Order: sequence, then structure tokens, then C-alpha cells
Amino acid sequence: MPQQVRGVVARAKGAPVEVVPIVIPDPGPGEVVVAIAACGVCHTDLHYREGGINDEFPFLLGHEAAGVVESVGEGVDSVAVGDFVVLNWRAVCGQCRACKRGRPQYCFDTHNATQKMTLEDGTELTPALGIGAFADKTLVHAGQCTKVDPSADPAVVGLLGCGVMAGLGAAVNTGGVTRGDSVAVIGCGGVGDAAIMGARLAGADKIIAVDRDAKKLEWATDLGATHTVNGAETDPVEAIAELTGGFGADVVIDAVGRPETWKQAFYARDLAGTVVLVGVPTPDMTLEMPLIDFFSRGGSLKSSWYGDCLPERDFPMLVDLYQQGRLPLEKFVTERIALDQVEKAFETMHRGEVLRSVVVL
Ligand SMILES: NC(=O)c1ccc[n+]([C@@H]2O[C@H](COP(=O)([O-])OP(=O)(O)OC[C@H]3O[C@@H](n4cnc5c(N)ncnc54)[C@H](O)[C@@H]3O)[C@@H](O)[C@H]2O)c1
Ligand SMILES: [Zn+2]
Ligand SMILES: [Zn+2]
Repeated sequence: MPQQVRGVVARAKGAPVEVVPIVIPDPGPGEVVVAIAACGVCHTDLHYREGGINDEFPFLLGHEAAGVVESVGEGVDSVAVGDFVVLNWRAVCGQCRACKRGRPQYCFDTHNATQKMTLEDGTELTPALGIGAFADKTLVHAGQCTKVDPSADPAVVGLLGCGVMAGLGAAVNTGGVTRGDSVAVIGCGGVGDAAIMGARLAGADKIIAVDRDAKKLEWATDLGATHTVNGAETDPVEAIAELTGGFGADVVIDAVGRPETWKQAFYARDLAGTVVLVGVPTPDMTLEMPLIDFFSRGGSLKSSWYGDCLPERDFPMLVDLYQQGRLPLEKFVTERIALDQVEKAFETMHRGEVLRSVVVL
């Protein structure tokens, strides 16, 4: 029987989000209904509400979540009723050209639920990133559910479902940060700070945090930055050069995603080093630079989608490290809020006052 629960819906571009009744179908073949325990508020949810992703309103927002499997559809054997799972937006298909070449982290045809969740009147909802977890329950593909240690705090480990994984993976997977590297991270929000935490986990020697907000730099230090640069007061390229013997950092991560921050990342990098773009630019942004600079400096220029993660490989391992006290994931949870406070959390996020507000159900 389809069930009615509460969900946070964005009905129209820029309109405040509302908590409304939504209808969850019984899981069909390959699908799972998950009772949500917690879901973080990510910048991407706000992008959806502002019409910055696409026009497929109404959206069911929320996508950084953990919960418990409530029911499974036909043919689902990867998870069972009662399993504690973190939801992901990379349920790899195993069939596309990326998967077939052994690069499933780039999968070009990831799975989502086939059936639609709806409003009471039958209007189909578009779940954010194929998840839609600011709700009591949601319907996803079984591959979007990754089992992790059930004793972990859902408000904390749910954050692995998007921003924290994206940042940590940008450093460790995409950037290949390893022992002894010097690393600089431009933009120290949830994503940048997760990159800092990842660089520290991987054994980076020098970790330079760049932000324009002094409070963010304090949090970055708490998560492992060894040096900080306030970009509002100092030129980040010069400051990073000074901190690295005049050479630049081995890996520089742009966690803002603007032409000026990407250029800073490029010029703050040592010869043959790596630039990682994990911040998401808007379609109107362009870049003009001397081509000879790309050639003469060598190295690699990469983008990081979801931290090049494989949820089945990375989530359980990161949850175990957190449980062992080796990964301070709990520091990303700035506040815990109720389902009807998502709109307020967007304002708090916009003012830069939090790393993450997390809805607890
Ligand atoms: N690639 C992916 O898979 C992926 C996944 C999730 C989020 N993201 C993107 O990552 C980016 C960061 O997300 P977030 O949640 O950390 O956002 P956030 O708003 O919390 O953090 C951005 C930080 O950048 C700082 N900043 C802004 N302009 C700056 C500048 N010119 N110089 C230095 N610092 C500056 C801000 O003060 C803030 O601390 C966003 O673009 C988001 O869409 C990417
Ligand atoms: Zn694939
Ligand atoms: Zn997100």
C-alpha cells in the first residue's frame, strides 16, 4: 500500500520550501523504501530550489542521509529490512562504457528508483540527486543504499552521502594526496574542510587552508590545516608560495568553483603538481589564460565528481575510521534541526554560519 509521509518540497523557483504530505509507493523490482533518520542540508538543495539545476519542479529536497531499510522490492538482495544505510547518488550500473573499462567511479548511467514519489494530488516529484531525503521516508534504488556500522550516529555518517565524501575524495581519490605532500585548499566550507580532513588522513605534511572568512579558517585548523591564509587580506598565490619554499603546493584544491579561485589554484601549484576542481561553477563562467602556462607548468588539471568515490568501497571504511576516532566527522555537524526548519537552514548556510545543519527525524 502506498503510504503518506511528510516531505520538504520546493514547488517553484525561489519560493520558500514547504513541509507537505507526499506519497511513497511500495518498492518495485530493485527498489527500497528507507525510513530516514537524518539528512544534512547541502548547497545543492538550495541550487535546486533556485532553479539552478533544472526546471523539473516540484523537487523533493535532501540527499545527505542515513536511515533504516523499511521494505524491499522484488529481486533486492544487497540490503534487507532493518539494515542501517547511508544513501548515495552513485549506484553504478556495471554496463556503461566507464564501468566496462573498470572505472565505475565515473559511471555515466547510475541507477535511481524507477517509480515516482508524488504529492497528494498525484503530481510527480523530482527527488534531489535521485534521493529526496528531507522526508520521513524515501524511495530509492537498492544500489543507492550502502550498509554501514549501525552503531554510528546517523546525523554524522549521513554526511558522507554528499559533501563530505566529495571533499575528502577530491583530496584522496582525485588529487591522490599521499604522505609528505603539500596541499592547499581554497574555500573552507563543508567540502573544503572535508578535503583538509582527507589530506590529513592521507599523511600530507603541509595543509594550507584559504578562505575569506576568519571563522572558516578556525574550523579548517580544527580539521587539520597546518597553515591558514585569509584571501580577503593576502594574495593566496603569494602566501602559498611563501609557505612552500617559493615553489607552490603539490596539490591545490578549488572548493569554491569560480574562475578567480581556479586561477589561484593553478598558479599556487608546484611544477608538475595537481589542480583539483571540486567546487561547481555556474554555466556563465569562463576562463582566459595563456596556453603556454598550461604547457610550461606541466602536471594535471582534474575535476572531481563526488570525490571519485565508490560508496560500497568508501562509506563503510570511512564510518569505521570515524568510529575508531581517526576521522572527526562529527565536527561537520554544526546544528541539528527539525524537518520544518530547512528554509531557515538555507539562510544560515547563506550567511556562512554553519558547516552543516542536519535535519534529524
Ligand atoms: N564536485 C562535487 O561532487 C560536489 C559535491 C558537493 C558540493 N560541491 C560543491 O562544492 C562547493 C563548496 O560547497 P560547500 O558546501 O563547502 O559550500 P560553502 O558555501 O559551505 O563553502 C564555500 C566556502 O568558500 C569560501 N569562499 C567563497 N569565495 C571565496 C574566495 N574567492 N576565496 C576563498 N574562499 C572563498 C566561503 O567563505 C566558504 O567558506 C560548492 O560549489 C558545491 O556546489 C561539489
Ligand atoms: Zn556505469
Ligand atoms: Zn550535496
